[in-house]
Amino acid sequence: MGRVAELADVSVRTLHHYDEIGLVPSSARTAAGYRAYSAGDVERLREVLAYRRLGFGLREIADLVDDPTTDAVAHLHRLRGLLREQRDRAAAMVTAIDGELEARAMGIRTTPEEQLKVFGAQLYETIGSAYPATRRTEPRIAEKIWEALGDARTVLNVGAGTGSYEPTDREVTAVEPSAVMRAQRPAGAAPCVAATAERLPFADRSFDAAMAVSTVHHWPDPVAGLREMKRVADRVVVFTYDAGSPGWLERFWLTRDYLPEFGDLLAGWPSLADMTRAIGGRAEPVLIPWDCADGFFEAHWRRPEAYLEEHVRRAVSVWTRVGPEAEERAVNGLREDLASGRWAERNRDLVALDTAELGLRLIVA
Ligand SMILES: C[S@@+](CC[C@H](N)C(=O)[O-])C[C@H]1O[C@@H](n2cnc3c(N)ncnc32)[C@H](O)[C@@H]1O
Repeated sequence: MGRVAELADVSVRTLHHYDEIGLVPSSARTAAGYRAYSAGDVERLREVLAYRRLGFGLREIADLVDDPTTDAVAHLHRLRGLLREQRDRAAAMVTAIDGELEARAMGIRTTPEEQLKVFGAQLYETIGSAYPATRRTEPRIAEKIWEALGDARTVLNVGAGTGSYEPTDREVTAVEPSAVMRAQRPAGAAPCVAATAERLPFADRSFDAAMAVSTVHHWPDPVAGLREMKRVADRVVVFTYDAGSPGWLERFWLTRDYLPEFGDLLAGWPSLADMTRAIGGRAEPVLIPWDCADGFFEAHWRRPEAYLEEHVRRAVSVWTRVGPEAEERAVNGLREDLASGRWAERNRDLVALDTAELGLRLIVA
């Protein structure tokens, strides 16, 4: 253990702790009966330390390294993506700071737009590589989506990201505008075309069905995108959010008590009724299970501590879009309320619920 601690530059105490909590158990024994690390243990330790360095919490790391669908190579790819993203983001910020220092030295003040440029445009080119850490197919939601696809044999997945929710028993074609997201599609995933929902490069009625999951709110023109889906496919299935019903911001404690800025993000966005009307469909509520596997914004409604984790927030665009000030204020407020018991007091009723109605909807047309 001492040798491993020295090589990895961590304390023996840390290794003991990881061993005790079952995060990195030392499964081998020396001839003299001392605890020792097998090759597999060392591999796991390497993953744990790398995720730790990226700012993940121990509980999240345990979930990541215990995930049976992620092997060592997949972890390496993910870690590489996260580290490159961190490096690129730091490099972009250094360049922006250099530019501003130069401008100030010449007596020029940069505009607010210039100052914020590095955080803005092309959201998924910036945040995309943090996405796979917590975003994956939630089987109970997938079941609803696949059921709604009916007997469709050919399926277009619009705003496909890394391929979550793509059915494996049908012929899928994906559309995804972000190169960062396309690059993270797993080997063997459906073919992916670089395009946007608003201009789908397919002839009328090319597919039996078209699906769009957690993406419509990113489209500059959702109604145009939905109409395009309807044009190229006989059936349309959309998993989205209803921001139109009265008091919708109050529905979820996170937006109600900590992040009301979420409301500003959706200002001017078409209502669920507008979207449904545009394609002539119906919308049904999708309840969110308390242990939802896909880490979208509402997913951790009964696991509030998760929102304190940087990597949970980075995989959800809302947190980047509200800006660092609102994010910091919301997270600090939540942290204080969790520590003081105020959150638990205010949200007493949630503990007894296994699913929650938080405005998520499935539109089927
Ligand atoms: C939250 S992700 C959802 C990805 C995937 N559908 C899932 O469920 O994991 C939103 C995706 O929408 C994509 N997107 C943004 N603007 C788009 C547009 N105009 N047309 C199609 N997709 C778009 C983003 O690049 C991103 O990959």
